[in-house]
Amino acid sequence: MQPSSPPSSHDKILILDFGSQVTQLIARRIREMGVYCEIWPFSTAAARVQAFAPKGIILSGGPASILEAGSPRAPDVVWQLGVPVLGICYGQQTLCVQLGGTVEGGHMREFGRAAIQIDAPCPLYDGVWPTGSTPTVWMSHGDRITAMPQGFRVVARSEGAPFAVIADEARHFYGVMFHPEVVHTPEGGALLKNFVTKIAGCHSDWTMAAFVQEKIAAIRQQVGDAKVICGLSGGVDSAVAAVLIHAAIGDQLTCIFVDTGMMRLHEGAEVVGLFRNHYNIPLVHVEAGKLFLDALAGVDDPEKKRKIIGGLFIETFEAEAKKIGGAAFLAQGTLYPDVIESVSFSGGPSVTIKSHHNVGGLPERMAMQLVEPLRELFKDEVRVLGRELGLPPAFVGRHPFPGPGLAIRIPGAITPEKVALLQQADAVYLDEIRKAGLYDAIWQAFAVLLPVRSVGVMGDGRTYDYVLGLRAVTSVDGMTAEAYPFEAPFLAHLATKLINEVKGINRVVYDITSKPPGTIEWE
Ligand code: XMP
Repeated sequence: MQPSSPPSSHDKILILDFGSQVTQLIARRIREMGVYCEIWPFSTAAARVQAFAPKGIILSGGPASILEAGSPRAPDVVWQLGVPVLGICYGQQTLCVQLGGTVEGGHMREFGRAAIQIDAPCPLYDGVWPTGSTPTVWMSHGDRITAMPQGFRVVARSEGAPFAVIADEARHFYGVMFHPEVVHTPEGGALLKNFVTKIAGCHSDWTMAAFVQEKIAAIRQQVGDAKVICGLSGGVDSAVAAVLIHAAIGDQLTCIFVDTGMMRLHEGAEVVGLFRNHYNIPLVHVEAGKLFLDALAGVDDPEKKRKIIGGLFIETFEAEAKKIGGAAFLAQGTLYPDVIESVSFSGGPSVTIKSHHNVGGLPERMAMQLVEPLRELFKDEVRVLGRELGLPPAFVGRHPFPGPGLAIRIPGAITPEKVALLQQADAVYLDEIRKAGLYDAIWQAFAVLLPVRSVGVMGDGRTYDYVLGLRAVTSVDGMTAEAYPFEAPFLAHLATKLINEVKGINRVVYDITSKPPGTIEWE
């Protein structure tokens, strides 16, 4: 499935994906310029490419070798549309081979930082890299071009890649052997901007204000006068989706907030306050904490916990939706990274590390159609949209929180007392991080209540209390993460504060594991 395309009034760039891990970065750089773009697999049918009518096409990098039998190629329509094309790494090689050049293996491989030599002017780096300069770029190639297709000339080279940048200015086809989309190519963004705005001539008219107006019209058209229900999780995505849909259809929307009792301290009340009182959105608040705690009693296997919560969530949600009755649409805060058709060369199913709890499966079960107004957006764009819609900045900037909530931050069996203890400890921890001005520098921070008690001494007495684990990570998308390097005095301050203020904890440890090999959550 693809996101619904924006109205044709916007200029569009199409990114054909050959499986690079950084393809999404190309899209984000372009969106930052106010230009709409989508990522499709390289194998997309010609007719669909034609119908999309892009003003320019970018071919991404990819892990394959162009020399392998059956390695991917761009559809020929790419060369026939008469629009500018930019090939990046693998994209440059396939451009070269498909247009009559040659690529060979077995030459010097280049991975990482490299300097290129600018030999001649080129519209791609016009105003960025003067002739004779030696800019730094991020290379990643094994094979290399040995003969160019007709019409091309070399305009920049590097030690390992004599064809670092090639250009056919008559057809507006360009190829670069490096990744302009990553931060390690410092002027890469300027190159992409030249391609998108000057070479392809796209206007920067894709703004959030325009997005809101267009989406409101699209939601009204899709929904008509039918009823819509939307599950609120307390997270940013479902909240922004709900506020946007409410702006479009008002009280045709009812939100259902299943409070699992595993939320952060006071979070349930905050969600109700914001939606029911501030936005006046009809909201069903299902206080299901006891239901979830009873079902989880004595369960210590992490996967079982996740399955129990996921199943119970769907059941509870479904029952409430039935009570509302007659809703034809279910709204979800699905984001663009969830709908990009990913290119997988391994073919096999990926291993399930954790079963994520979400409302997947609900629409089929309940025979409802979906309203997914955020399908075209990246997470950071959802935050911008949330601010545009007037959601409080503190809410929009919140750290991610998993569906199963605190249940997966209490290894071992869960009790109401442990949940209460963790809520309190987590609140103290986050409060200190905010006070230190570190909240926005951290991608996600939380406390974990370990199923271990240790001996301590407080005043004159012996204590035998729980150990609290603290986690704080930096990350871009949650796929990889690094432990946040707190200063030692701050960690010591946290330990003292937590032990003094949260009864039941007498020891604090800091988790320094990166992901991989660890995951961010403990279960
Ligand atoms: P892990 O622990 O897999 O987490 O490294 C990566 C990111 O995903 C969040 N997470 C979840 N989010 N439902 C969610 O909506 C889930 O079941 C779930 N499990 C983990 C986690 O908090 C982190 O941000």
